[in-house]
Amino acid sequence: MSTQSPNTVLGKQKKVTLQTIRAKKQRGEVITMLTAYDYPIASAIDRAGIDIILVGDSLGMVVLGYPNTLSVTMEDMLHHCRAVARGAQTSLLVGDMPFMSYQASIQEAIRNAGRFLQEGGMDAIKLEGGRERLDAIQAIISAGIPVMGHLGLTPQSVNQLGGFHPQGRHAAQAREILDDALALQDAGCFSIVLESIPGQLAKLISGRLDIATIGIGAGSGCDGQVLVTYDLLGLFDRFTPRFVKKYANLRQEMVRAFEDYKTDVLAHNFPTSEHTVEMSDQEWKTFMEAMTDYGAG
Ligand code: KIV
Repeated sequence: MSTQSPNTVLGKQKKVTLQTIRAKKQRGEVITMLTAYDYPIASAIDRAGIDIILVGDSLGMVVLGYPNTLSVTMEDMLHHCRAVARGAQTSLLVGDMPFMSYQASIQEAIRNAGRFLQEGGMDAIKLEGGRERLDAIQAIISAGIPVMGHLGLTPQSVNQLGGFHPQGRHAAQAREILDDALALQDAGCFSIVLESIPGQLAKLISGRLDIATIGIGAGSGCDGQVLVTYDLLGLFDRFTPRFVKKYANLRQEMVRAFEDYKTDVLAHNFPTSEHTVEMSDQEWKTFMEAMTDYGAG
């Protein structure tokens, strides 16, 4: 029996596909996912061997500075998807459909989903919602576009939910989320993000489904985990959800670097000769002589 991870062939990383994700679910191997919005971070995540990169509409909050994700447009998403696609060779790339890009009509949903693959370089799309989105999900999948679902705390419904609160803590609501998850699986989703729901519920749903669940604030019983990379790196300081683990404090490190740069420039410690373009003494002499001619002429 092979002991190789489905991500590697003869020790080399190979492109993560839907089949890789299915195989990991079947084998009980944990799936890793992180968000990215630009080339350097996508490239580092890809290098680290993370299975899935999500170009999340969290872009709106952590990169563009909006209070929520509602202002993010298709053009914003595609611009950042292209940068991510240029940086990642191995991870499966999932583009997040922004608010109002799939709710108004099925036709618009298919066309916008297609743009993520055609113009954004993504492999799949993600959209929020349960049974109320089945028509759009089925139509997108029929067009040959893989779909990842998103249940529980769905940030595009922040106004309907009355804030960024955990979901599914009451029995009836928990049942709704389970039924939504089963419906999304039947519709053909290859995976579902479960955000901010009780750990017991996420574990039960993960056990009932044949497709992979990816949890955020949903405990360790999911088939995989996702975090917003700017939270993980400590780059976003407006607030930190309880479920985030910070693996670095890059904002602090950035402020320190910018202050050191300012101090160096003010003290004339930067740039030094090693950061400066050189010219030979002979060329300089020739130049100065020409300058004299120029001045005299
Ligand atoms: O937009 C996003 O980053 C997301 C993740 C939190 C799953 O949807």
